[in-house]
Amino acid sequence: MSGGPDPKDFPGPTGANPGRVKSARVAVLGTGVMGAGVARSLLRAGHRVSVWNRTHDRAAPLGRSGAIVTTEIGECVLDASVVITLLYDASATLDVKPHLLESMGPEAVWVQSATIGPDGARQVARGVRRFLDAPVLGTRGPAEAGQLVSLVSGAADVAAAARPVIDGYSSRVVEAGPEIGRASALKLVCNAWVDLLVAGVGQSIAMAEQLDLDPALFLRAIEGGPVDAPVAQAKGAAILDDSTGVPSFALPGVVKDIGLMFSAVAATELRTELMVAMRDAYERVEETEYRDHDMAAVWRGFLR
Ligand SMILES: NC(=O)c1ccc[n+]([C@@H]2O[C@H](COP(=O)([O-])OP(=O)(O)OC[C@H]3O[C@@H](n4cnc5c(N)ncnc54)[C@H](OP(=O)(O)O)[C@@H]3O)[C@@H](O)[C@H]2O)c1
Repeated sequence: MSGGPDPKDFPGPTGANPGRVKSARVAVLGTGVMGAGVARSLLRAGHRVSVWNRTHDRAAPLGRSGAIVTTEIGECVLDASVVITLLYDASATLDVKPHLLESMGPEAVWVQSATIGPDGARQVARGVRRFLDAPVLGTRGPAEAGQLVSLVSGAADVAAAARPVIDGYSSRVVEAGPEIGRASALKLVCNAWVDLLVAGVGQSIAMAEQLDLDPALFLRAIEGGPVDAPVAQAKGAAILDDSTGVPSFALPGVVKDIGLMFSAVAATELRTELMVAMRDAYERVEETEYRDHDMAAVWRGFLR
């Protein structure tokens, strides 16, 4: 596999070209919100996909989409040329690591796509021969549509080998350099922005309500203008529809990621006042009965 496949075999994002793609054998470990979407996108792109999840019932429905649903990690990764992990955090990923390495082929590439921070990425990569630090931007909808943005760091030949598979669930790939941990650092930089944006939408909606305004007026006022953002409209709509109970990204994950941000910048000169305020807002709601709601539920944290 070294040197990677010929790019002409893989015409652009494979999700857009089912039927033309050279099929790879891909294992997806973790079929939560993101893993399930990625697995379905890979299947649509023509890859052969096996899946494993700690709670088997959560993986079983993927069988109807054509995935091979396995009960053992070893069975899942055996024969796979690319293994994707999309587990909750670094600790969960380290838990599966020994089982994964036991059965993964020597030329297979491990594409680690959960948000685990740069230290987590380096820890997970330790002792792994062909590893890519490849977290993703996007949420439930983009994962299902094969439209995630993959942030990638690792050796060029390893990245090239995995690229046809990554293209199966990504609309874009942003290369962050060869050093493992760079992509995970970039992911935290991006999440700092997203988390702030969603908290800002929540604050403005809560504020509108307190000022006896219809909060929909806020979304209408920014719509299509230079200060609008798709995520503002999507999360704003979820707040106004009261549909935060179906999470695209649940609050504990946001709080986990903000914790990773603090760890990552601890030894730097970055001031963290804004990050502290953002963490407080999400934590306030995470400690309530809305814990399992989408991050958009942060708006509740702005009310006394
Ligand atoms: N959702 C998003 O919008 C989004 C976007 C970008 C990145 N991410 C990142 O992608 C990763 C997955 O997110 P998600 O939203 O898909 O989370 P999720 O729906 O909560 O799924 C978490 C997955 O991790 C598994 N897991 C947790 N602890 C485990 C352990 N100790 N051993 C084995 N498996 C374990 C869960 O298995 P069970 O089903 O058995 O609990 C499940 O498969 C996270 O790192 C998240 O930060 C999420």
